[in-house]
Amino acid sequence: MTRQRPAVLIARTVFPEVVAHLQAHADVTMNETDAVYSPQELMAQLQGKDAVLTTGSERVDATLLAACPQLRMVANIAVGYNNFDMPAITAAGVLATNTPDVLTETTADFGFALILATARRLTESEHFLRAGQWNRWSLDMFAGAEVHGSTLGILGMGRIGQAIARRGAHGFGMQVIYHNRSRLDAATEADCKARYVEKDELLRTADHLILVLPYSAESHHAIGAAELACMKPTATLVNIARGGIVDDAALAQALRERRIAAAGLDVFEGEPRVHPDLLDLTNVVLTPHIASATMATRKAMAMLAADNVIAYLTEGRALTPLNPQVLQKG
Ligand code: GLV
Repeated sequence: MTRQRPAVLIARTVFPEVVAHLQAHADVTMNETDAVYSPQELMAQLQGKDAVLTTGSERVDATLLAACPQLRMVANIAVGYNNFDMPAITAAGVLATNTPDVLTETTADFGFALILATARRLTESEHFLRAGQWNRWSLDMFAGAEVHGSTLGILGMGRIGQAIARRGAHGFGMQVIYHNRSRLDAATEADCKARYVEKDELLRTADHLILVLPYSAESHHAIGAAELACMKPTATLVNIARGGIVDDAALAQALRERRIAAAGLDVFEGEPRVHPDLLDLTNVVLTPHIASATMATRKAMAMLAADNVIAYLTEGRALTPLNPQVLQKG
């Protein structure tokens, strides 16, 4: 007797080799247009599917799960998974996976790129040049903040935070301080040359503050007007974590009033919309959520999501499960 092949939806367009890999094990339907499905479209596309590959653009919640009772697995092509309602997913007995590790170093590289671009006023000076405004050179032209030897503050010290700490401490001779829900063990702190401080000290002391913490109700607006007011007027702020961790309206105001020097943002509240006040400012570097975007890393992320789907649908296991209790029940 031939067993029916599982059915998998890929909710966005992924690389051909990832589709081919999945097709060896399952019947695959892919969103070839790459346009983000509305919740209703996603629900319709998921009928009869055993698993789905999602990105941060697709929300998986109790309403969706109730409408798709045959769905057994949701595989996010991202390390962050705030698009997943984890209690609802687990209650429905659905396995969830994400893509940690494969993007750590690439994302840390980009975090550092934004620290450098923000401190050294890279995009602001390029726009000036392209606009034909460069007609003479002067000593203080686009003079920014020092990066090497300065104090790097890291809020959120998971794998990516640690990779940024190592770059700062070992590559740029920075003093690294961090704040995290739980303190790292002594060996990891020594490897990262990072010192644990309370959040208040982090805000007051950092020359460059980078946010690398997951988004949750607890971290919503972790950086708002009050926190920005604690920072040095010469400080820079970089957010590569998630929109919503920073109160973008409060940040725009702080930047406009030069209460901090500059910011670098890869993620935004309500993205792909960007707070209009940010667009008018010159002292902010803005990028469209691309911290993990190298071809090699994006392929590795999509392949890991596919491997998770194949492992679960064919062998009942997963490489990077978010709710392993579902595996134990199965
Ligand atoms: C990107 O933001 C990710 O969470 O992987």
